[in-house]
Amino acid sequence: MEKSSNSEFSPKVIGFLCNWCTYAAADLAGGARTQIPASFSVIRVMCSSRIDHNLLLTTFFRGADGILVAGCHPGDCHYGEGNYYARRRFAQLKKVMETLGLDPERLELVWVSAAEGGRYAEVVGNFTEKIKKLGPNPINSSTRF
Ligand code: FES
Repeated sequence: MEKSSNSEFSPKVIGFLCNWCTYAAADLAGGARTQIPASFSVIRVMCSSRIDHNLLLTTFFRGADGILVAGCHPGDCHYGEGNYYARRRFAQLKKVMETLGLDPERLELVWVSAAEGGRYAEVVGNFTEKIKKLGPNPINSSTRF
């Protein structure tokens, strides 16, 4: 797919959302009928620390143009320090992405609490727009979601 067709490009963005905070924020945003980009797909996980290198890279190889991981604010993780592990893992993974020729901006880790439905919609909208500008994932295999 060519980058010049970005005005029509609808990025495939995957959101791995922590069950205890951001998933609840997504629910809140949905209940308030807040607009979320249609190309944004949610996968619920029990903690942001559940996301590892293999899962993220496989998701990119299988066609995701961008991945948003969202969890509890620092200090609020239901499993103690899970989000701190996630943050450390992300720093490493962004370096791996660079060596693969994949822009690290395609991956984002954010903290969104259960009470932040409006912020959730804003984060998802902004991230989807950023991925739209970056264009299609260059290491996408032929298998799409
Ligand atoms: Fe939400 Fe760990 S339980 S980030």
